[in-house]
Amino acid sequence: MTLHARSVVTAAGVSEEIFDEVLDRVIQSGDVKIWKAQEIANELQRNELRTSGLDKQTRPNESAMGIGYGKVVLLGEHSVVYGRHAIAVPIPITVRALIEDREEGIVLMIPRWGVEYELAGNVTERRSFERPAGVILDKLGLSNRGMCIEVFPDVPRSMGLGGSAAIAVAIVRALDRHYQIGLSDEDVNRLAYESEKIAHGSPSGLDNTLACYAKPLVFRPGDPPLVELLNIRKPIPAVIGITGHEGLTAKTVGRVREAWQQDKKLYERIFDEIDTLVLSAVKAIQDEDIKALGELMNVNHGMLNALQVSTPELEQLVEIARKNGALGAKLTGGGGGGSIIAVCDGATEPVISAIKDAGFQAISVNLGATLDGS
Ligand code: PMV
Repeated sequence: MTLHARSVVTAAGVSEEIFDEVLDRVIQSGDVKIWKAQEIANELQRNELRTSGLDKQTRPNESAMGIGYGKVVLLGEHSVVYGRHAIAVPIPITVRALIEDREEGIVLMIPRWGVEYELAGNVTERRSFERPAGVILDKLGLSNRGMCIEVFPDVPRSMGLGGSAAIAVAIVRALDRHYQIGLSDEDVNRLAYESEKIAHGSPSGLDNTLACYAKPLVFRPGDPPLVELLNIRKPIPAVIGITGHEGLTAKTVGRVREAWQQDKKLYERIFDEIDTLVLSAVKAIQDEDIKALGELMNVNHGMLNALQVSTPELEQLVEIARKNGALGAKLTGGGGGGSIIAVCDGATEPVISAIKDAGFQAISVNLGATLDGS
């Protein structure tokens, strides 16, 4: 049993420092599986960060913080903006926000990104991050209060992982806690959507919904949107490959819109094709057929190429992932830079190593596993 468990933990790519603890817990759980080892390793790594000195320094008051989740789009980005379905899954990478009282004025700080603004009362004078944050304060009637909003983003900036929506949700939740407003999840989601409209122009609502509910979802925009829980019975081992090149979602969404306006018939056909892939992927996930899911993701990536939102770095990462055993790989989120998502059959280590060897960042995630958020 121990020998088998050891080889499972090794195959899961668990680092030396936490190997023994992961081994113990995998055996205790009775689920001697690669995904289980990865789930435990991820949890230990998160706990380590939370209890480290650095973490205490930057996160002084964890319980008062608002939290928003990052996400990956498994299939359906861009076409979702045009009323089609998408599948998205939250990842255990978050943004946290904290409100502190101040005599007067509103200061917005994101120390990790070197961002610090004093919020302009006049909407037309607001810049960059001030604008999406400002709309939340305006809608909640808090623009005249004195406060400092401090944001701690673990979701990397402009990497297609839903960072701006996670910031919006974290800020709304932090304001709700601090001022004891009593917002429901629906209220939080609605306010984050208003903020996303300012950040992106014409968002589908997918990102804010994921950042807010943090559950695997099938989503289709509408009034009201269709939001259906997707039951991933067995977490899917996956790798996020990060190019490190900023992908500006507003820009790629704008590019697709221009192309669509030039030839609506052609682009509607592509969106319909993607929609068919998404619906087949829902079935593949329900059938636990990850091979079929991977293939559908590969084809979806081809369609995203047709929409011209890929880049040479994204292509390189997709290629590396597929060559190193991924069952499917595609860009995720807005594209134009940002990240890829690759699903694997068991071990993610060969894909992770190959991506890192090529000089990019890679994160192992278990899609559909429980998130230990707050
Ligand atoms: O790049 P992200 O993480 O903001 O994801 C964007 C997803 C799109 O479908 C391209 C846009 C949207 O609003 O759904």
